[in-house]
Amino acid sequence: MDFRFICITLRTGQNTFRWQNHRVVKLWVTHYYLEIIKVMGKAEGHGENWHGHVTALTVSPDYRRLGLAAMLMKFLEEVSEKKQAYFVDLFVRVSNKVAITMYQQLGYIVYRTVLEYYNGDPDEDAYDMRKALSRDVKKKSMIPLTHPVRPEEVD
Ligand SMILES: CC(C)(COP(=O)(O)OP(=O)(O)OC[C@H]1O[C@@H](n2cnc3c(N)ncnc32)[C@H](O)[C@@H]1OP(=O)(O)O)[C@@H](O)C(=O)NCCC(=O)NCCS
Repeated sequence: MDFRFICITLRTGQNTFRWQNHRVVKLWVTHYYLEIIKVMGKAEGHGENWHGHVTALTVSPDYRRLGLAAMLMKFLEEVSEKKQAYFVDLFVRVSNKVAITMYQQLGYIVYRTVLEYYNGDPDEDAYDMRKALSRDVKKKSMIPLTHPVRPEEVD
């Protein structure tokens, strides 16, 4: 594999700013682009909601089932641990069975359903999937909500 590798790490201090159309709230953003993989994440939230968020994760079709996504998720979890986050979360289309299966294999659970989160024709629901980190000793972040929420209720 040709691992031409560019890594950009931005540390933003206390400020909020925009980068590639993503609103970034302090701490870290890492964007890897290798021709074949792409991952973006950030840390956000307050108190026990302080968490790492996976904004984007894609592996080029020719390079799938090689363990690359699992490796990238492990990397994001390690960064989130270093930032003393309570959990890592991500949003995924309810129709994306491959990704949902992968996240479940990696220890993530469906925390809640976010109704009509993705715009389209028709709109599509998202699963908010979470995995507790070591700071969340009682794994409270992984107790699923019993009811779906609307996008405007997602903080
Ligand atoms: C989802 C995606 C990122 C997985 O990338 P990947 O590098 O192929 O995943 P990995 O090789 O690390 O797979 C890890 C585990 O996930 C599961 N998995 C991954 N792809 C799978 C598939 N097509 N079918 C069933 N299980 C799968 C397997 O358990 C796999 O472990 P194994 O190969 O030892 O059985 C990739 O398919 C992708 O880019 N899809 C399009 C974009 C996308 O859906 N991103 C996620 C949005 S939230």
